[in-house]
Amino acid sequence: MHARGRVNALSDDGLGILETGGRRIYVPFSYPGDEVGVRRTKRRFGRLLAEDFEILEPSPLRGRPKCPHFGTCGGCLWQGLKYKEQLRFKAELFEGITGIEAEIEGSPQIWDFRNVSNFIVTTSRIGLKGYGSPSGVVNLSECPVFSKRTPEYLRALRDFLSEMGLKPWNLKRKAGDVHYLQVREGKFTGEVMVNLIAHVNPPDEILEAFQDYFSFVDSLYWSLKGDERDDPRGEPELLDGEPFIRERIGDVTYLIHPNSFFQTNSYALELLLRAVEGLTDGEKVLDLYSGVGTFGVWLAKRGFTVAGVELNPFAVEMARENAEINGVNVKFSVGRVEETPLGDYDTVIADPPRKGLRETAESLVKSSVEQVIYVSCNPKAFQLDYKNYLKRAYRIEDTRLVDMFPHTPHVEAVVKLVRKN
Ligand SMILES: C[S@@+](CC[C@H](N)C(=O)[O-])C[C@H]1O[C@@H](n2cnc3c(N)ncnc32)[C@H](O)[C@@H]1O
Repeated sequence: MHARGRVNALSDDGLGILETGGRRIYVPFSYPGDEVGVRRTKRRFGRLLAEDFEILEPSPLRGRPKCPHFGTCGGCLWQGLKYKEQLRFKAELFEGITGIEAEIEGSPQIWDFRNVSNFIVTTSRIGLKGYGSPSGVVNLSECPVFSKRTPEYLRALRDFLSEMGLKPWNLKRKAGDVHYLQVREGKFTGEVMVNLIAHVNPPDEILEAFQDYFSFVDSLYWSLKGDERDDPRGEPELLDGEPFIRERIGDVTYLIHPNSFFQTNSYALELLLRAVEGLTDGEKVLDLYSGVGTFGVWLAKRGFTVAGVELNPFAVEMARENAEINGVNVKFSVGRVEETPLGDYDTVIADPPRKGLRETAESLVKSSVEQVIYVSCNPKAFQLDYKNYLKRAYRIEDTRLVDMFPHTPHVEAVVKLVRKN
């Protein structure tokens, strides 16, 4: 055995840390209290990662994972931890990075909660990416965090591919016909969207067979992918059914389309929306990085006067549709947040991409905005924005954590910042 000992902490990205013989080894799928034996390590991004290891004595913090692919699939690093321990560690990791002690709300449902899955179709396997290996794919039979219906989707896909003789994607040669199957479910509406991402335009007989195999879905798309990048994106063309599926969160209906981002945990989303609503003051609200209008439409429905700004024109179109079908009036505009006048709003909501606010944080400091609600899935980016800029003008009044991502080390934070006097 190369190294042996007890894991005593978790890294910010959720790996067990084994300190032994003056070295620090990062062990995936292990947790504090586990006695581990490591046979082989590799150096990755400046640290030692355990590659071949075994759990010699399990930690009392462990629970029973539901998924047969736990331990190889890259989706769920923490599925082996009891859920209450996952929540405790998420709050601790957040505090370790930001210095903020905050309550965390668990996801109301921790199985079948994800409303989207992107199954990669490769020459050897169909499923999800393995942990730490961009080229390793787990041949999936089920996915308890996505849907009970996963086997049905995958069976239809496998049967369709083998009957039509379509070539799966070859990751090494970057060639093949079919690359991904994306499935989305409206958890509260029961609606299903299937979108095949392929490198070929389908002849009629293939189209007919595809429609036949997936006749049980509400919306069926074929997306032509013109590049070799390994992502589930193409030009979607509706083959059958409705152009959108709907999701219902509380009293708000949201439309979902293959090209639009939607928060992935439908059950915890209501908690997130209520956290934002509970911290919003005044009447006039600016929703920065408004996407498909998730926050803006929800707040307009509660009587706030809302304007939203978003870079992606298609998302803005979706946001406008979302406002319309919910009978609310929100002014969604296409634009760069960096160039948006911050004006006289009572509250500014900012839900930036993973890299954080950066120069927008500086603009907020220079503005007269009294309250900012910073929604963040990346505590490190939040911490940098706060320490480098926001702190000059704002104090942290309240922070709520919502677990949008059970079985992973990630957490969503809602931080209310109030202008210092
Ligand atoms: C984390 S998502 C937030 C989505 C939205 N709040 C929601 O819940 O659906 C970040 C959004 O910011 C948009 N975005 C990224 N950079 C931007 C920029 N410089 N200006 C405006 N929007 C931007 C992205 O297109 C994306 O929709």
